[in-house]
Amino acid sequence: MHDFYNFVTGPLAWVAFIIFIVGSLYRLINMIILVNKKEKMIFAYMSWKYSLRSILHWITPFATVNMKKHPAMTIVSFAFHICLIITPIFLLSHIILWDESWNISWWSLPDNIADIMTFIVIAACIFFLVRRLKLPEVQYVTSASDYVLLAIVAAPFITGFLAYHQWFGYKFILILHIISGEIMLAAIPFTRLSHMLFSAFTRAYMGSEFGGVRHVKDW
Ligand code: HEM
Ligand code: HEM
Repeated sequence: MHDFYNFVTGPLAWVAFIIFIVGSLYRLINMIILVNKKEKMIFAYMSWKYSLRSILHWITPFATVNMKKHPAMTIVSFAFHICLIITPIFLLSHIILWDESWNISWWSLPDNIADIMTFIVIAACIFFLVRRLKLPEVQYVTSASDYVLLAIVAAPFITGFLAYHQWFGYKFILILHIISGEIMLAAIPFTRLSHMLFSAFTRAYMGSEFGGVRHVKDW
């Protein structure tokens, strides 16, 4: 088990981070090349003003018509994304690993706060799951891959939570945690999780076209 732990925290962690970083750069560069080849006129009306206006509007809770129509979804989605991104970056156990390997460290969340934020992510995933199963209009556009994606995102938080509380065999759960975290990182560039990379560009494009060309709001 110890050798395997060294493998998942060593070479496999390298592979996961490289796929995540190089894959993300590849997807972004490819997007720019494609736009250049097929839709060059977009560059003519891209506007910083309307791009930033749209992005700011869409990251403000309850700013858009759709968010006002679905308050529960809005609250859960904002809480989910904030906790999802902040927790792993500012988790003390994670920072210790960076410190041991690279001698770098930064500010960390108190453990009990991180634990609550982990719980919020897990609860939000359950909310998304139930929403997909119960609401006909969501069920209609849901396929198996949506459930797989949700599981990929929930797994590092469920196993991280179990490892922290040492409820089952600690070493085994910890290895499961690390593998599930690595799968999630590697999946970001190549699945719909890539909305992390593209959402700002989508908003910039919609904002520029609606603001600068059609002279209407995109929310
Ligand atoms: C890539 C390799 C990763 C390694 C080596 C790693 C390692 C660890 C370790 C050692 C712990 C602490 C367990 C304990 O307290 O004894 C932990 C907890 C945790 N990790 Fe990771 N992790 C990785 C990836 C991720 C990713 C990608 C995420 C989420 C996106 C994540 C989220 C968490 C969470 C939420 C906790 C538990 C927090 C709590 O409930 O207190 N980890 N991880
Ligand atoms: C960093 C910028 C990100 C932005 C702006 C963003 C934005 C969004 C938006 C607009 C939605 C649609 C649901 C809604 O209306 O609230 C969504 C859903 C989702 N996001 Fe993100 N996201 C980001 C990062 C991430 C990351 C890093 C992950 C996980 C690795 C993630 C996982 C998810 C999941 C699982 C859902 C769908 C839940 C479901 O309905 O099944 N997001 N995101």
